[in-house]
Amino acid sequence: MRILFIGDIVGSVGRKALKTCLPKLKTKYNPHWIIANGENAAAGRGITAAITKELFEQGVHGITMGNHTWDQKEIFDFIDKEERMVRPANFPAGTPGRGYTYIKVKDAELAIINLQGRTFLPPLDCPFEKANELVEQAKKRTKYVLVDFHAEATSEKLAMGWHLDGKVSAVVGTHTHVQTNDERVLPQGTAYVTDVGMVGPRDGILGMERVAVMQKFKTQLPVRFVVDEGKWHFHAVCIDLDTATGLGKKIQLIRMDEDGVLFE
Ligand SMILES: [Fe+2]
Ligand SMILES: [Fe+2]
Repeated sequence: MRILFIGDIVGSVGRKALKTCLPKLKTKYNPHWIIANGENAAAGRGITAAITKELFEQGVHGITMGNHTWDQKEIFDFIDKEERMVRPANFPAGTPGRGYTYIKVKDAELAIINLQGRTFLPPLDCPFEKANELVEQAKKRTKYVLVDFHAEATSEKLAMGWHLDGKVSAVVGTHTHVQTNDERVLPQGTAYVTDVGMVGPRDGILGMERVAVMQKFKTQLPVRFVVDEGKWHFHAVCIDLDTATGLGKKIQLIRMDEDGVLFE
């Protein structure tokens, strides 16, 4: 069983990259499940109902989110109804939406769990305790469990990888928009990568127009960030799972840009 997990899709350039790359990746890898992080899909900030529909029409089966979940106000109109979308599960009880769900494709179910780190991010409930609770729940229903740990600190993400090693199929990091090359299957069988990367403007800074970001660093004054335009890059991982155990067998980085394939 194979999962294609796509890093944070940023703005219209990211959506264009998805449209360009996904058909080719589907042919080449034939993934059973395609999951994407969509927290920046609407001009870098959150996601709309129309964009959610667009991603599903492209062939994405499930969408994970993060700290930008609430940036588009209309999310509150559809997140409760959209069963294929998860937002970080460690938001306080009563938060709209869901923190985990099951994505069924051709009779096989993948549980997807979204958690958010607490280092350099808001103090949500403990993601490690929440992970214990949700993994136990999910494992009652399926052996295939993927965790998107949306976090800033590489150490916190590694801690989650080791915390869940042998308990879930895969722990993939999102949020930093920079792909890390530490992909591996941990000793007890959990496929892991600290950050999958992003899909969107290549020559901006994390998808934002770079001059404004540079100005912010240089002047320390408030600056309005806008999503960048121009050429795209596309980061994802392909994860192979053992059908007997549901654990990870192999994890591979995918890295492409508008000028060609860099890594696959
Ligand atoms: Fe992001
Ligand atoms: Fe984020």
